[in-house]
Amino acid sequence: MTLTASVSDQPGWLITPLGRFAVRPGETLLATLLRTGHVVEYQCRSGYCGACRQRVSAQQRQALTMIASPLACLAGDEILACCCRITASLALDPAASSPAISLNGCPRWHLSD
Ligand code: FES
Repeated sequence: MTLTASVSDQPGWLITPLGRFAVRPGETLLATLLRTGHVVEYQCRSGYCGACRQRVSAQQRQALTMIASPLACLAGDEILACCCRITASLALDPAASSPAISLNGCPRWHLSD
């Protein structure tokens, strides 16, 4: 017997400047970004450190579902990539939506923001 994934098993797509990538079932946004060769900040992978934060719009947020409650402090337009999954097509530019992290762990937005 051969097991194949059906289209309905496909949770969604991640679309970035690097291309369009199929999301694997159960995979966090952070795992998808790392598996597909994106350079993103991360440390704990469990919502503590806040290093994987991404700034998202309300429309982008609709393509995500939270799977864990973040312990890091977040602004209203931020999510933690390790605490959510993609459930639809998500267009994201991780390089543009990641804040720089200062030495004390607080996000510092790039001067151009
Ligand atoms: S990697 Fe630490 S909060 Fe996501």
